[in-house]
Formats: sequence, C-alpha cells, structure tokens
Amino acid sequence: MAYRLTMVGTGYLGATTSACMAELGFEVLSLDIDAEKIDRLRAGDLPIYEPGLQEILRRNLANGRLRFTTSYEEAAAFGDVHFLCLGTPQKPGEYAADVSYLDAAIESLAPHLDRECLIVGKSTVPVGTAQRLADKLARLAPIGAGAELAWNPEFLREGFAVKDTLHPDRIVLGVSSDRAEKVMREVYASMLEMGTPMVITDYPTAELVKVAANAFLATKISFINAMAEVCEAAHADVKQLSLALSFDDRIGSKFLNPGLGFGGGCLPKDIRAFMARAGELGADQALTFLREVDAINMRRRARMVDLARELAGGSFRGCTVAVLGAAFKPNSDDIRDSPALDVAVKISEQGGRVTVYDPVAQENARKAHPGLSYGTSALDAAKEAHVVLLLTEWQEFIAMDPEELGSVVVSRKIVDGRNALDAETWRAAGWHYRALGRP
Ligand code: UDX
Repeated sequence: MAYRLTMVGTGYLGATTSACMAELGFEVLSLDIDAEKIDRLRAGDLPIYEPGLQEILRRNLANGRLRFTTSYEEAAAFGDVHFLCLGTPQKPGEYAADVSYLDAAIESLAPHLDRECLIVGKSTVPVGTAQRLADKLARLAPIGAGAELAWNPEFLREGFAVKDTLHPDRIVLGVSSDRAEKVMREVYASMLEMGTPMVITDYPTAELVKVAANAFLATKISFINAMAEVCEAAHADVKQLSLALSFDDRIGSKFLNPGLGFGGGCLPKDIRAFMARAGELGADQALTFLREVDAINMRRRARMVDLARELAGGSFRGCTVAVLGAAFKPNSDDIRDSPALDVAVKISEQGGRVTVYDPVAQENARKAHPGLSYGTSALDAAKEAHVVLLLTEWQEFIAMDPEELGSVVVSRKIVDGRNALDAETWRAAGWHYRALGRP
C-alpha cells in the first residue's frame, strides 16, 4: 500500500523531508501553524537556503504530490504516517531543550485521529520524550491503540540536506510494535533496497543515538581545537598535526578541521540539552566532559577576538574590521549560534567598526544584528579595513585573490579563522597572515 504522509513542521527538517518524500513518489501533506510560511511554500518559495531543495519543492508542487496546510483536521484525515519535524530549541537561560512544540503538535493532532495511523518523531529530543508523547497520544486519540508512535531520529546536515535525506548513512527506528516496524520498512523501502543499514530498537535508544552522534562530533571538533590551544602555546602547527593524525584511519580526517569551532542550531544546544537530561537521570558525571567540549568551543571565539585585536595594534578603537562570513558554516544561510557573528558582535562591542559580508546569510544577519555594517561583496566589506577576518569558509573566500583584496585594504592583515587559506600564498603577497593554532 502506498502510504500517505504528513509532515508537522516545515523548518529545515520538515521542508526537506516533505519535498524529498514527495520526490520518492509519496503523496505528502505538510503542516505548519505559520500561515505566512505555508503561503510561501505553496508558491514554491523556499524560506531557507538549501542547495537543490527549491527545484525538488517546485517539481513536486507542480505534479501535485506535495501540498501544504495549516489544518490539523485535514492532516489527520489525510495521513497514514505523520512525521513530527518540530524544533526543540534551548530554553532561554537554561541548558535544557524546550520540547513544547512537540507536545503542542500531539495535542492538536491526536484528537482528530479516528483512523489507524503511525506518528513518527524525527526531532532531536531529551531521552524519555518519546514514551511520554506515546502516553499522551494514547490518552488523546479517539482511535486509541490504532494510533501508535515510533521514533526515527534525523541526521541531516544543512547544506547537504537533500543528499542526506535521500541517501542516509543509516536509518534508526525506535518502535514499540512489529506493526510500526512493518509500516516504516515500507516507507523507507527504496532506501533499504539501496542497502542502507537500519537499526531497529526501543524509544530511548533511538532518542539517544541522535544526541550521542552530535556529542561525538562536537567532541571531535573540540579535541582538535584543544590541540590548537596547545599548539599556540608550544609554537607548533595544528594544521599539520591534524593532517598527520588523519592518516590513521581509526581517527580519520572528517570533523578534524581546527578553527573557530562549531555553531548552528544543533551541535551547541544538543550537547547542552544532553548534559541537562543526564543530570535529571542522575547520570551527570558521565557527561561532565561535554562541559569542557562546550568551553573549548567558546574559547576559540574569544581567542579569535584577541588575535584580531593584536593585529589591530592592541585596541579596536578607530579600527575597521572586515568580517567575511556570517553563516555558522558555508552552504547555509543559518546564523543560529554562528561563531562568525558572535566574533563580529564582540569586536563591535569593543569599539571596532565592523563590516560583514556573507554570500547567502547576509539578510538573516542584518535582521538579527542591524547595528553592524554590511558590504555588498568581500571586496566591498574589506574596503579601508585594518584587519580582515575569514570566519566562514565559503568557497568564494577561499578563492579570493590576495593581490586584489590587498588593493582595497588599509593594511594587509588577515586572520584565517577556518584554516582555509594557503598561508604561503598570502604571505608571498605581503599579507601578515595569522590563523588559530598556527605559528
Ligand atoms: C549537525 C550534524 O552533522 C548532523 O548530523 C545533525 O543532524 C545536525 O547537526 P549541521 O548543524 O548542519 O549538522 O552542521 P555540521 O556540518 O555538523 O557542522 C557543525 C559546525 O561544526 C559548523 O559550525 C562547522 O563549521 C563546525 N565544524 C565542522 C568545525 O569547526 N570543524 C570541523 O572539522 C567540522
């Protein structure tokens, strides 16, 4: 049977999953309570930047497989499988995650469920949430046990979201019945046929896989950034250290790039929520190392500001600083917890005149930080600059011509916050080149 799918929530996760499942041939109805967002999506206007996604959205709107609604009643009547793709942001002033969007979705959807269906949670949640939501669903759904819950964490990376959704590394599924497993095997049949490994487990294990994966990735980045701190003290070169480590295939080269560290809507808040949840469970000692992972990561931003100030001659007063990059990583317009913007704001607070340029995240940055100046290109942002900072490694910044950039600045001083430029080339062009973790 060809199941009809609904997606609840149309952010990065929901919009991508909606379009990609329609692309695979499913009929999909996507719901959001934000009517303005739904209007844009209906018109084929993707509210986020994600390479390749806009075309898939438009194609599946045109062929009629993908539709949008703001009505839970309509979603309940339509769907055999309802995916929950809601955000779980950090609570203000706390480490814990705010799961209230998920609760609200269940409370809105469940009372309309009068036929058999499966609810599939994809959001990143504190362990124990799935069981709690399953209990709530059982209380509220008129069909009773006919509406079941499964947990299916999502590992997509922004910038590669289409590829990660259509060709995932693995499928993780927490279920409480064989029926749920059978339904999900049909939903993911095309991926299973490609040989994608699937791990079937219980709710808490499925929930934990996601946060454990992100904790591991954050730890790997902070490990190499801790080595960068030691390299700075010992006059060693962390880029060569990282390269040498990467040839050990037990270590590998991925997520071993030293620099300004991690940001975004996932890694920082996920490790914090993980610590908070472990504390509630009485297992806080197991995760105290994540506090250090977080601290190492935040110290890189402070170190970046210090290096920039050093190059500015000891103070930012009267100094123009060009900040190249605002997104938390290249190929994304996401500025949530962006290390680049954090540095830009700190320098501005310390009296520097900061001009930011980002090829895609510029408008998001301007909305969030209207007090900073914005250039129309990297060259424009660097005009009259005393110091240039490369903080997000967009390809167009890596490809910059040091001579051309040098012709517009006041002094040829650059800090490479992502270890992305070739130091020799820049030094040969007369630049004072500095990078985190390198002599
Ligand atoms: C992450 C996980 O990778 C993904 O599996 C999960 O579903 C969501 O969280 P994402 O937030 O899109 O995805 O970003 P990711 O590509 O993981 O990068 C996170 C941050 O780490 C970025 O700020 C990036 O610049 C930084 N990073 C990454 C490093 O500083 N060094 C590295 O070597 C790799």
